[in-house]
Amino acid sequence: MQRALKLAAETTGLASPNPQVGCVLVRATPQGDEIIGEGAHLYANFDHAEIVALKQAAARDISTSGATAYVTLEPCSHHGRTGPCADALIAAGIARCVVATQDPNPKVSGQGIQKLREANIEVTLGVLQQQARDLNDAFAHFIQHRTPFVTLKTALSVDGKLAPPPASRYPNQPHWLTGPAARHEVQLLRHASDAVLTGIGTVLADDPQLTDRSGVQDPAPSGFPGPNHLPRRRPLLRVILDTHLRIPLTSQLVRSAANDVLVLCGSLASRSKAATLGSLGVEVDQIPDHAGRLSLPAVLTALAERDILSLLLECGSHLNGAFLRQNLVDKAVLIYAETELGDQAIPFAQGVASPYLFEQSLHRIHRTTYGPDVCITGHVHDPWPNH
Ligand SMILES: NC(=O)c1ccc[n+]([C@@H]2O[C@H](COP(=O)([O-])OP(=O)(O)OC[C@H]3O[C@@H](n4cnc5c(N)ncnc54)[C@H](OP(=O)(O)O)[C@@H]3O)[C@@H](O)[C@H]2O)c1
Ligand SMILES: [Zn+2]
Repeated sequence: MQRALKLAAETTGLASPNPQVGCVLVRATPQGDEIIGEGAHLYANFDHAEIVALKQAAARDISTSGATAYVTLEPCSHHGRTGPCADALIAAGIARCVVATQDPNPKVSGQGIQKLREANIEVTLGVLQQQARDLNDAFAHFIQHRTPFVTLKTALSVDGKLAPPPASRYPNQPHWLTGPAARHEVQLLRHASDAVLTGIGTVLADDPQLTDRSGVQDPAPSGFPGPNHLPRRRPLLRVILDTHLRIPLTSQLVRSAANDVLVLCGSLASRSKAATLGSLGVEVDQIPDHAGRLSLPAVLTALAERDILSLLLECGSHLNGAFLRQNLVDKAVLIYAETELGDQAIPFAQGVASPYLFEQSLHRIHRTTYGPDVCITGHVHDPWPNH
């Protein structure tokens, strides 16, 4: 199962909007267990992991009769883009199926396992379950709620602030709080996300690129990304919330746009600015307003319509606060630097007393260090049903 999980983990960026799944087929020989086929699901290749593994065994002319299948997610029992994997495993004569976790889709959960058991295949469920679930939080959330799984990521000073006060900063330049190791980790978070989102406040203050530069070690080259990221099937969608379309045409986001920048605006935004942005390769979409600002549930719906399952927030104080107060954050990644920024600095999230208090509401907290920086990860909502 560990090997199947490793195969599944290697498909980050290549499986969405489907889940990341790995499968290993094993047969017993007098010399011990032997792997006869293995694989993972890549969205572009259609075949689910079980089929990839079965085809590999067939290509090697090895019979799968009596073999054991280790699968990181319950084999499917329904017709999607492909036929049901449960049927394929039964037809292949598999004797035992070890499953890490049940399908999170309440409409089909348990049915694949039932089908296997009805065909007299021995099923073991729950092996390395948490690791398998960790790979597919976004899929589990989306399949139940039809909205993206939202991860709030932020870099903080040790006194819980986001950035120095504007008066003490150079405009249009990011102020890096954390070191290269933590910043590289952020690139990997972007790589694992379908979309990244920030607000116009951050665009005006920092002029960020928000690209997936996961393939390069920091400090990243200053040029716009070409092949500098790990492979991904779809470009990282860069989303900006900008009610009045204040985004500068000279911003790095606009200059680097290649049908991968989406600016969401309100009903009163200038149509001619929208048209100009459109001509520069930036997609502009109007979203319902709520009290003069964009409706965040409408933002999530607009992203869901674009098949965005995982959304990474890299916002300033206003949007961090708005997403948190509306209970729209599912997971948090808080990276603390050693620096202190003082009372006048920009707070973590408007209306939230401190990140340290927010941390206390998190579940399944993990603590890691990246060089001198401390990273706290935890869930606000566990997207997996309780079975
Ligand atoms: N340390 C970090 O990890 C980090 C990350 C990002 C930013 N920052 C810092 O944060 C500061 C910027 O903070 P910020 O609060 O101005 O930026 P922000 O949260 O990124 O953007 C806020 C803007 O988004 C727009 N917006 C649209 N819909 C909204 C809604 N429903 N709720 C709230 N805002 C909405 C509003 O402008 P309109 O009304 O004009 O639309 C609002 O002023 C900068 O100093 C930056 O360096 C730090
Ligand atoms: Zn399947």
